[in-house]
Amino acid sequence: METENTPVIEMNDIHKSFVMGDTTVHALKGVSFKVWPGEYVGVLGPSGSGKSTLMNIIGCMDTYDSGEYLLNSIPVGNLTDKQLTTVRNRMIGFIFQKYHLIGTYTVIQNVMMPLLARGMSYKEAEVIAKQKLEMLEMGERIYHKPNDLSGGQQQRTAIARALVCEPKLLLADEPTGALDQKTGEEVLKLFRELNDMGHTIVMITHDLKVATHAGRIVRITDGELSEDNNSVK
Ligand SMILES: Nc1ncnc2c1ncn2[C@@H]1O[C@H](COP(=O)(O)OP(=O)(O)OP(=O)(O)O)[C@@H](O)[C@H]1O
Ligand SMILES: [Mg+2]
Repeated sequence: METENTPVIEMNDIHKSFVMGDTTVHALKGVSFKVWPGEYVGVLGPSGSGKSTLMNIIGCMDTYDSGEYLLNSIPVGNLTDKQLTTVRNRMIGFIFQKYHLIGTYTVIQNVMMPLLARGMSYKEAEVIAKQKLEMLEMGERIYHKPNDLSGGQQQRTAIARALVCEPKLLLADEPTGALDQKTGEEVLKLFRELNDMGHTIVMITHDLKVATHAGRIVRITDGELSEDNNSVK
């Protein structure tokens, strides 16, 4: 049962391997951790350490070999693909390094997509999408196409799209990776504000400077997690 004190993420001894011909890569070697509502966690690790593998499992985009994963107390390992799609839409807002916006749609249409996918009417979705875009100072740009925007504006559009379904979790993979330093800092400031508003955030990065913006840092090294002692929980 979900209570106020339910972790958003609870992983117990998650293992994941990839078999390629004769070799097996053990990408996650018994990962256990919890993320509580309102936390802002930076997952920090070098290339090949298992960050994307972990993100794909947290985001219900990939399965695991053994262990247990509860997303807001839902055991996602037992769900069908269709149920997983619903869980993703309801529970998680994704933010990617390269924005993943649809180039033929306007800004507002991109932000409306998750709402339309859950069956909301176009009119209703338009109102909610507009509100989120205005909150992110993108109100002047809603009828532009992504290509006409700067990188920072594209990422703010992607953040509006991630927020529009009021997800339990914002899951970001190198969200500043494609931005210059100043714009990247603006996006990180926005994440801080979103966290101050109560949003739970997991941000994956290889960059210590970026990770230190999070309240808590978890390191991933060769498929194993360790808590950073200096981080505030
Ligand atoms: N689909 C796959 N097939 C085979 N091996 C994979 C696959 N995905 C990941 N791996 C391997 O698992 C390990 C972890 O990869 P992962 O992509 O999770 O690392 P990462 O920390 O995200 O790295 P980067 O910072 O370069 O994105 C690597 O050794 C990688 O080669
Ligand atoms: Mg990766």
